[in-house]
Amino acid sequence: MCGIIGIASNKPVSINIINSLKKLEYRGYDSAGIATLANNLINEKKCSGRVKELEKILFKTPSDGIVGIGHVRWATHGIPNTINAHPHSSDDVSVVHNGIIENSDELKEQLESKGFRFKSETDTEVITLLVTEYLKQFEPLESVFKTLKKLKGSFALGIIFKNYSDIIIGARRGSPLAVGYSNQENYLGSDSYALKSMTNKISYLDDGELCILSKNNVDFFDLNLKKINKKIHTVSDEENTSNKGDYKNFMYKEIFEQSSTAKKCINEYIDSLKKDINIYNFPFDPNKINKIILIGCGTAFHSCLVAKYWFEELTSIDVEIDIASEFRYRTLKFNSKNLYIFVSQSGETADTAAALEICRENKMKTCSVVNVVESTIARNSDWVLPIHAGPEIGVASTKAFLGQLLVLYILCLKLSSIRKDILKKDYDKNIETLKKLPEAIKKTLKSESDIQLMAQEFLKARGSMFLGRGISFPIALEGALKLKELSYLHAEGYPAGEMKHGPLALIEEGLPVIVIAPKDKYFEKTLSNTQEVIARGGKIFFITDIKKRLMSTNIRFRLRVPFLDNLLSPILFTIPLQLLAYHVALLKNCDIDKPRNLAKSVTVE
Ligand code: AGP
Repeated sequence: MCGIIGIASNKPVSINIINSLKKLEYRGYDSAGIATLANNLINEKKCSGRVKELEKILFKTPSDGIVGIGHVRWATHGIPNTINAHPHSSDDVSVVHNGIIENSDELKEQLESKGFRFKSETDTEVITLLVTEYLKQFEPLESVFKTLKKLKGSFALGIIFKNYSDIIIGARRGSPLAVGYSNQENYLGSDSYALKSMTNKISYLDDGELCILSKNNVDFFDLNLKKINKKIHTVSDEENTSNKGDYKNFMYKEIFEQSSTAKKCINEYIDSLKKDINIYNFPFDPNKINKIILIGCGTAFHSCLVAKYWFEELTSIDVEIDIASEFRYRTLKFNSKNLYIFVSQSGETADTAAALEICRENKMKTCSVVNVVESTIARNSDWVLPIHAGPEIGVASTKAFLGQLLVLYILCLKLSSIRKDILKKDYDKNIETLKKLPEAIKKTLKSESDIQLMAQEFLKARGSMFLGRGISFPIALEGALKLKELSYLHAEGYPAGEMKHGPLALIEEGLPVIVIAPKDKYFEKTLSNTQEVIARGGKIFFITDIKKRLMSTNIRFRLRVPFLDNLLSPILFTIPLQLLAYHVALLKNCDIDKPRNLAKSVTVE
């Protein structure tokens, strides 16, 4: 998943391209590049590493030009180095690309047989040389159109042309692409977030569409090259407020925003006057839903797993969950009484978007739970339930996970109430309890200093385990994922009851084991599993919301979380695990907001 920007203007563009690339770095940050058109030449500059390295190059050797493209890369084909960085240029064409060209080897052979020579190891360069070849006979739009017909796989493209120095061509198949509008200046970008510092007027290309933009005009074309009109959205300014403020990094800010995030999300969905949940014009009759299938990736999948326990507990609806990259290749049995719910912070995750597309093609009811309401997944769903978490910049998801859990819980409560699966008094009580969540989150965050001490214990360990039962099991998975992706340490989330079926062999003297043990029906069982680990030398970090003292003196570390409600324990118990991963990563001097090898939005499969 990479970030693309293009600007056609009446004034030099390189500074705005660089500034936009900085906002796009959350999509990929192993190399960067820019190409502008000036003096009838393509001026290409690129580097491995962050955008600030590219900025240094431009400072020494500025790039003129009022039309240009830029790119930040998350490597798929070819190691992250300067040669493989985008743009990829010939004398006549320069291309930036987000996606994967699956038949690039075959196309490369064909082009080499015609005498073309490749400079990079990337799949993208085949696009550059194909367009270059077609340009000998056709205008730019036709040349690009003919090129796209040869490509298999996914792409979002920005292309500039030496001999057509006032235009940029964009094209989209499977990877997001947006157009922004301003006075004497128009933009192409991977998402609205990259464009928002320059405009709030934005259109979104759909799969198969192309656009030609110049400083004064934008034209759109469908997959048959027929001119089409695209809606111009005015995107909310709220997103523009995403900056670190006094925080040292975005992730720390986003962890500590969770109390206000919860409050905002609850206020969006709970009518405090009527003391009722409002899911607005939800288009499906809850009484005609027999099964709900929840689908996501990574942390979003973990929120699906938690929601499974809620739907089982609070409704009579059958519920399944699936990892999107698995779901999309299954032999699926569809039923018109199914409701498919897609959970995605970015709304651009390729596997989740593909899973949604399969359900749409089979005329299934679809709903998405997203943070970016202008995203592909949101726009392609029958119904959208926004999580209202505001921009989440840290690659490791924190406040968005909270928002996903909240919206899924609220939806579950509402459907249960409409179906009369839950008594009115319990429904009302759950709503009242939910309103106490923001305050409980604030209290939980106060345990940070204890967690900083805990973090020290993980530095020298060969790995760690996170254990939980029932609704705490997905939180064990999420806690392990946070530690892995932020500190690069091995960590495993496991159902506590499963340890004796093999993983207990991993337990050795001093191995840190986090036990998630809320005061629920599993508590005693979880305590027994804890003893099994202690007996084999494991170092227990016991997170619980019970008040009574634990009999065992072997539990080295106990962290108390405020008790609110068994159903809401997953939300509160996640917070110490986010802080633990954060502080271990800090002690290891890892890059908190941009962990190695990762990107915020995985728009390739
Ligand atoms: C979360 O910490 C991870 N960065 C990752 O697992 C993420 O949740 C996953 O890629 C799904 O992203 P999405 O929510 O934008 O679809």
